[in-house]
Amino acid sequence: MNVGILGTGSLARALGRVWVDAGHAVLVTGRDPEHVTEAAREIGGHGADPAGFGSRVDVVVIAVAWAGLAEALALIGADRGTLAGKAVLDCTNPVDYATGELLGSAAELVARTATGASVVKALHLFAGASWPRTGPAEQAPVVAICGDDPEALDRASALIGDLGGRAGVVGGLGAARQLEEAAGFVMRVVGSGHNPRFAVPDVDPALLRPAG
Ligand SMILES: NC(=O)c1ccc[n+]([C@@H]2O[C@H](COP(=O)([O-])OP(=O)(O)OC[C@H]3O[C@@H](n4cnc5c(N)ncnc54)[C@H](OP(=O)(O)O)[C@@H]3O)[C@@H](O)[C@H]2O)c1
Repeated sequence: MNVGILGTGSLARALGRVWVDAGHAVLVTGRDPEHVTEAAREIGGHGADPAGFGSRVDVVVIAVAWAGLAEALALIGADRGTLAGKAVLDCTNPVDYATGELLGSAAELVARTATGASVVKALHLFAGASWPRTGPAEQAPVVAICGDDPEALDRASALIGDLGGRAGVVGGLGAARQLEEAAGFVMRVVGSGHNPRFAVPDVDPALLRPAG
């Protein structure tokens, strides 16, 4: 796949490296050309000017700070339809890191702004350093994702699989705000001094539907 990453920071670099190792071509862009060059070098991919970025990739992964999200989308012309027809994975945490309070919905902002794009909320909950994950498939982390377009969900699931995770489709894009709240919940549990891994119930496997 030709994977485009909008963002040059820690998450962009962590995901990009693993996807290059998995055989994808990764194109990275951002607002600062020096950061783009550094990130592309570290990832083993290529840097791109924001103009024309969307037309060069099959899927776009958004890895920018919530405060800069609208500006970053404008930078690549998302509001002018440059991502139309593309799967767009939004990894943004629109959360106050200190308190866990949700500040808005990043996926809703992306869907409103990026005309014609198929938005998937994905990969916001796990630290970039979680990847790649190796080990038995049944112990792979479940990455809850949501979106309205089956093809975009398939692309997201494939990329998550390449990280060593398992995608769990929990609903349409209407579920995005709840997935974003989940990140705030995790931050609150961490803030209480506990490991969020132990903060959700262990459900009897007999109660589970077969994974789709
Ligand atoms: N790090 C993780 O493990 C992790 C995991 C899951 C989700 N996330 C989410 O992923 C996003 C990125 O996190 P990160 O840890 O990679 O952050 P980071 O290292 O601080 O990088 C932030 C990125 O956002 C860009 N940015 C900030 N303001 C911008 C603006 N106004 N216009 C354009 N670009 C702007 C920065 O560009 P400059 O380099 O030019 O400043 C940089 O590329 C956040 O929403 C975060 O919640 C992170």
